[in-house]
Amino acid sequence: MNHPGIVLQATRVCTVFLLSSLAIPVAQANDPAVPDSHKVLGVSRADCKKCHVSEVAAWEKTVHYLSAEQRLFKYEANTKKYADALGVTAEGLLESSACSKCHGTVAAVEGLERVISGVSCESCHGGSGGDDGWLNAHQSYGDGKKTRDEETSEHKTMRHAAIDKAGMLRSSHIYKLAQNCNSCHIVTDEKLIAAGHKASSAAFDFVGWSEGEVKHNFFMDKATNADAPTLWSAENPDVAEPAKQRRRIKLVLGTFATLEAALRARAGATNPVVIPTYGGMVAGANGKFAQMLATGNAQIAQIPALVGPKIGLLFAPGANDKKDYNELADKVAELAKEFAAGADKANLSALDGMTQAIQPHYSQQYIQKHGQP
Ligand code: HEC
Ligand code: HEC
Ligand code: HEC
Ligand code: HEC
Repeated sequence: MNHPGIVLQATRVCTVFLLSSLAIPVAQANDPAVPDSHKVLGVSRADCKKCHVSEVAAWEKTVHYLSAEQRLFKYEANTKKYADALGVTAEGLLESSACSKCHGTVAAVEGLERVISGVSCESCHGGSGGDDGWLNAHQSYGDGKKTRDEETSEHKTMRHAAIDKAGMLRSSHIYKLAQNCNSCHIVTDEKLIAAGHKASSAAFDFVGWSEGEVKHNFFMDKATNADAPTLWSAENPDVAEPAKQRRRIKLVLGTFATLEAALRARAGATNPVVIPTYGGMVAGANGKFAQMLATGNAQIAQIPALVGPKIGLLFAPGANDKKDYNELADKVAELAKEFAAGADKANLSALDGMTQAIQPHYSQQYIQKHGQP
């Protein structure tokens, strides 16, 4: 199958922008983040490295990068046990499967769906290829302009609108990035869990887990992995204490995303053994919001009142679980979006005690391979 070229004229980007609505596809919290395989180019074919050498080098040290190798290319031990339980064969592991959607990146290569790597750039930032894919617009700075520095601000606004429309998840979309993590880090397939697979990454927290080995915000200064995302800081020059503010925002939106995803997982769960796992996650996220009330923030303030009355019901199946918890999740998602809209400038300094207590996360595999950071 032919993949459309990735060179696009600036005029084309303008057309896309003018003709389109600005609707952005929203990741469904419990639908694992599977980019359309026809849009996935992969790190090599997309040549992300051409412009993002340090980001690619950082990614290659992570468990995400290794996961395909360890879980999909070797049909043994627990991989075999879980795969057998779901009827996934050794060959199936390398294709689009119930396992590869979380442990790898699947691309349509010459008409066949193949695992091309572990969890990759496009797993988190969206499939990039195709005429209307985000990569074209991402690297097009306007007629005759070769670098981002030469780009006009009007063109940049237009470019961002075009890549957003094409479904790129970028630093400004922190809630969607966090939803995306949860779509893999909370497992909802009860058959898979019954076979022994974990129902979630215990103690997943968006701040700590996107720091440590996963952190790759080198953009403005390639020599350092900055405390706060460098692009976000550059695009928000008026924000005081950008590193602190960014972590506060990530704490709040990460907790919103976990609460939403845990509620949806709880809504769909029927196994009384698994229900307390999701119930515990909901209660845990609600507890964090209770600690955040000191911010006086309008959206945060609504959560304990919404979720509190459900706490006693969370741990055992109920007749209307599906409807009740999905409705609550919708409400939480709405509040998260309202919060995100004003987050850059919100006064969140009351959260510093909480953010300071969060440690960057390094996996056991990372430590074994690269030593204690
Ligand atoms: C031709 C150079 C080039 C290529 C190729 C490229 N990028 Fe970028 N990327 C940039 C530049 C320049 C920026 C700085 C932000 C901006 O102005 O868009 C950037 C920013 C980003 C951002 C942050 C955007 C934001 O607004 O928060 C992400 C995510 C990203 N790139 C991912 C990728 C991935 C994944 C690939 C491969 C599929 C890729 N890039 C390929 C040049 C490139
Ligand atoms: C919804 C996403 C998701 C799906 C689907 C999924 N996994 Fe996982 N898997 C994970 C996550 C996340 C972890 C890491 C959990 C942690 O943080 O400890 C993991 C861990 C593992 C591990 C290492 C831990 C252990 O139990 O030995 C194996 C092996 C594994 N998965 C195999 C599989 C196989 C085989 C399938 C398909 C039958 C599969 N997974 C489907 C998300 C998923
Ligand atoms: C596990 C998910 C994940 C993967 C895999 C991933 N990213 Fe990101 N990326 C993120 C998140 C989350 C952010 C925003 C981080 C923040 O705000 O702290 C981000 C931010 C970025 C930025 C902006 C950094 C800055 O300096 O502002 C760039 C550029 C980027 N990613 C490129 C890449 C490239 C290239 C790859 C593949 C080599 C990649 N990402 C893989 C989740 C991911
Ligand atoms: C496409 C699915 C997917 C997405 C999206 C994803 N992850 Fe993961 N992540 C996994 C899987 C699967 C593992 C376990 C890999 C293994 O053990 O083979 C993992 C492992 C990790 C680990 C190492 C955990 C350990 O102790 O072993 C960290 C940290 C992590 N993810 C953070 C994140 C963050 C932060 C995000 C969002 C920005 C994210 N992940 C998005 C699938 C995903």
